[in-house]
Amino acid sequence: MDLHGSTAFVTGANRGLGLSLTRAVLARGARKVYAGTRTLGMKDIPGVVPIQLDVTDPRSIAAAASECADVTLLINNAGIARLMDSTLDPGWIGLAREIFETNFYGLVMASQAFAPVIATNGGGAIVNVLSDTSWFSRPMLSAYSATKSAAWSYTNALRIELREKGIQVLGLHVGYMDTDMTRGFDLKKSNPDHVAADALAALESGEEEVMIDENTRLIKQSLSGKRAYYLIASAPG
Ligand SMILES: NC(=O)c1ccc[n+]([C@@H]2O[C@H](COP(=O)([O-])OP(=O)(O)OC[C@H]3O[C@@H](n4cnc5c(N)ncnc54)[C@H](OP(=O)(O)O)[C@@H]3O)[C@@H](O)[C@H]2O)c1
Repeated sequence: MDLHGSTAFVTGANRGLGLSLTRAVLARGARKVYAGTRTLGMKDIPGVVPIQLDVTDPRSIAAAASECADVTLLINNAGIARLMDSTLDPGWIGLAREIFETNFYGLVMASQAFAPVIATNGGGAIVNVLSDTSWFSRPMLSAYSATKSAAWSYTNALRIELREKGIQVLGLHVGYMDTDMTRGFDLKKSNPDHVAADALAALESGEEEVMIDENTRLIKQSLSGKRAYYLIASAPG
């Protein structure tokens, strides 16, 4: 997809990767970016139109899709993570349901609401922000990882269906980034501005899946091997 002259909608645009993607889409020549945020009050950025959006609320998504009828690019970025001690934690299911509402059902509902809008506007793209945890899981992030595996699976089906409508579907997989989500994690992290720039370069090159960092590429490559990362991973790192 050529971003020049496009109109984007970014979910969770007020901070972290969403804010980086918002700025990067504008830098690549987008006409306008709708910034979908749970609470309004984001700092003014020329070219950015704030829109109230909670991806767990179907009415909020429907209202946004109706109001933003000129969208040609949807970026499903909004996400949450919750840490847990064990896969056997009695609270696991409750926490998993909470994360699924945002990371999985939210992404599905936004895709369903905006795909017809993008098709009506002559085609464009949907970018789904996934993770290296789509392909491996540890106890601490097991519910979060399950949401990203599920979202990866949905993304793969969505891509097949939307190709014939002229909508490119890009799965964006990345490891730890330096955002609020990983505050306090003493680990190597990618700069979200660099992640956004690399993801949009891949989008404009016509790619349908992008692994941003070397570790994520190695994890994906290992999947069919005897030493697949999901078989040898240990906590936490
Ligand atoms: N950070 C990492 O290491 C990492 C790695 C791989 C993938 N990711 C993924 O990257 C994406 C962005 O994460 P981030 O690191 O930038 O996290 P972040 O800094 O915590 O930002 C999360 C964003 O999502 C928004 N959000 C959460 N729930 C929402 C809802 N129900 N409706 C609308 N917006 C909602 C937040 O809004 P509020 O400000 O209102 O809370 C915030 O704007 C997520 O999908 C995450 O899973 C992150």
